[in-house]
Amino acid sequence: MGKTMARVDVSAEICGMKIEPAVMNASGIFSFVPVLKRLREHFGALVTKSIGYREREGYENPVFAQLSEKDYINAVGLPNPGYRAMLEELLDAYPLGKPLIVSVFSSSIAEMREMVSEMQYACDAFEINFSCPHPRPGERIGKALGSDPIAVEAFVDAAKRSCRKPVIAKLSRSIDNLEEVARTCWDAGADAISATNTIGPTHSGTPRIRWPVLSNVEGGLSGPGIKEKGLESVRIIRKSVPEIPIIGMGGISSGRDIVEYVKAGADAVAMGTAFDLKSTGQVGEFMEWIVEDLRKEMDKEGAKRLKDLRRMP
Ligand SMILES: Cc1cc2nc3c(=O)[nH]c(=O)nc-3n(C[C@H](O)[C@H](O)[C@H](O)COP(=O)(O)O)c2cc1C
Repeated sequence: MGKTMARVDVSAEICGMKIEPAVMNASGIFSFVPVLKRLREHFGALVTKSIGYREREGYENPVFAQLSEKDYINAVGLPNPGYRAMLEELLDAYPLGKPLIVSVFSSSIAEMREMVSEMQYACDAFEINFSCPHPRPGERIGKALGSDPIAVEAFVDAAKRSCRKPVIAKLSRSIDNLEEVARTCWDAGADAISATNTIGPTHSGTPRIRWPVLSNVEGGLSGPGIKEKGLESVRIIRKSVPEIPIIGMGGISSGRDIVEYVKAGADAVAMGTAFDLKSTGQVGEFMEWIVEDLRKEMDKEGAKRLKDLRRMP
């Protein structure tokens, strides 16, 4: 590592949390706390799988598939042990030594209040999943909730009033009113916004494989094929709410991708699909490479701190 590169600062500060490096895992990737604990040295912050009020089974396999070189699709169905079991795991591990963000979802305000109020002493922030694109028919969670500004306002406000930890709203490029929903999140008191979740619902057939590859038939796209959607969502949110911290994601797999996200308006980023098929050991090596690659790219841009990139074309 050259002398200049050593001085490059790849950290970010979001909602009073120091995120170093400014790269976290996306929710749903390395879902549970013991794995997050093993990986903590490599990420700036760790995010759990989305947790609901009660135990929930996911969809049957197959739940994840690669459709083409750049396109991945999943419909896992939000399997989780319910918040009380999750709280046990969190209490065993907290504090983790890095900011720990618990992703939550519910269709009920009362459940959301209880979850954040009970789990707040075992984590550093919450991320509300307003963006999963494949709930069960008739279920008002994820994107079904996150496209309704009135519901978003009520859930963000309820979460903020029920805990003393930062609340991040996770949104999707798959909604038509992202600009309006982002503004609503800010007005309701959200401390940050993350985007994008997977893109969909998308049919899991391909021109080559016509039948659906997922048991749920429809799923959400992730990986390099959605990078433009992720960047677009960051630009829309940044334009709509110039002040809000943004965690950008969707198709990131190199230092250059991170630079693009920061230039689009992100303060930090998250990565998911890039870890596909990697063992826990390989994830550590890959993250070392990512941070090194980011440093090189920042050096090329003449940026000493990540946020310097925000002012660059
Ligand atoms: C297998 C899988 C499971 C996921 N589970 C969740 C989840 O539980 N909650 C959530 O908010 N997002 C979930 N996501 C979405 C990711 O957090 C991320 O927003 C999306 O995959 C885009 O980033 P990527 O292209 O780097 O994967 C999941 C994605 C994948 C691939």
